[in-house]
Amino acid sequence: MRRAFILLASAGAVSAWTEMYHKAFMNKNIDPIVVPGTYTSHMHTFFGSDAITKDMPTSADLQKGCYSGDNPNDLSAYWIPTLYHVDGDNFTEVPVFRFSTYYTNAFSEIAIPQGFSMISGNASARTQAEADNAYNNLEWFCEGSNERESDIANFPTSTCDQHLQVSLRFPNCVNPDNLAEYDFSDDSNKCPDGMKQFPQLRYAARYDTKSVAPNGWSGDAPFQLSCGDALGNGYCFHGDFINGWFADAAENMLNAGGGGYNDGQFISGEHGSSAIEDDCTPTDQDPDNGTSDYWTSVEMKANGGVAVADPVESTSAVVTTAASTSSLSQRGDVPRPSLTTKYMWGINWR
Ligand SMILES: *[C@@H]1O[C@H](CO)[C@@H](O)[C@H](O)[C@H]1NC(C)=O
Ligand SMILES: *[C@@H]1O[C@H](CO)[C@@H](O)[C@H](O)[C@H]1NC(C)=O
Ligand SMILES: *[C@@H]1O[C@H](CO)[C@@H](O)[C@H](O)[C@H]1NC(C)=O
Repeated sequence: MRRAFILLASAGAVSAWTEMYHKAFMNKNIDPIVVPGTYTSHMHTFFGSDAITKDMPTSADLQKGCYSGDNPNDLSAYWIPTLYHVDGDNFTEVPVFRFSTYYTNAFSEIAIPQGFSMISGNASARTQAEADNAYNNLEWFCEGSNERESDIANFPTSTCDQHLQVSLRFPNCVNPDNLAEYDFSDDSNKCPDGMKQFPQLRYAARYDTKSVAPNGWSGDAPFQLSCGDALGNGYCFHGDFINGWFADAAENMLNAGGGGYNDGQFISGEHGSSAIEDDCTPTDQDPDNGTSDYWTSVEMKANGGVAVADPVESTSAVVTTAASTSSLSQRGDVPRPSLTTKYMWGINWR
């Protein structure tokens, strides 16, 4: 590992990077990595390949879908917790203005493996310390501003002139013989023993806060993540990724790097050599199940995936579950099962 680092450094490696934009195409209470096969997740917003349901897909499955991004070689699935503007019981989605994925390859040794998936961030975090990982660099800020809150995973405490923005880096080291083992490289760009470095993914989401909070805010921002339980902070922000890059393009990303803004480079492959939207429209592949409604997702999560007060179901179908004894009038008090263990699974935190 060390030798590879020295060779790369002496060859004058510069950090090449590429950026892609992906439109949000679905909000849904599923997470095939964390709670596969169920509708018990908090709400997520999905980008990338639409071949994503409650069940864990393979890379090949994703590559059969429609993509919401701008690179036909990238059929990866990307998702984040949904952000809401909160006014009493009124939860309104804060629209994603732009969702970008960046990849940098300065010290990479291998292409992102087929079949690889990962999570960054701590969906259970309720404090800055719990959100902190020395290398994920989770931060919330106003686009275009250098100001940061003292807790950098707090939302800005005054109105953003431009968009509200979040940035999160992903692990960039993996054990090629056991893809469930992944981690971040250290300060000298070295991976833990037995792991190889691949191009590093970063999410940047920009939110259109003006459409839901036209008068702005001062103090705790009136926003809450689907994984959170308090206004004002973004500690529980996390990102999920399942690799859907076609293998040839993943190799090209390793070798050529990319270039994004800098030189207009693009990760080419046999599926395309320029930014282009898909000719099909990404859609929910399982529209009859799960929910895109915030409060229904809270109920389903508390009730093992069953919507006890699903507005589209007849009331007679509703009262049959044991869980329906919980009072829906106290929505804010619905118990939130801890996902800590599940979110930590497979991640070697420093
Ligand atoms: C994630 O957050 C939970 C709090 O719910 C905390 O117990 C756990 O230690 C955090 N994980 C890390 C790696 O900080
Ligand atoms: C809920 O909040 C949104 C965004 O602030 C607003 O447009 C909408 O009118 C509110 N709805 C109700 C029922 O208060
Ligand atoms: C999903 O919806 C379809 C159509 O309504 C239904 O047949 C199927 O059983 C549902 N699947 C689950 C897991 O609920």
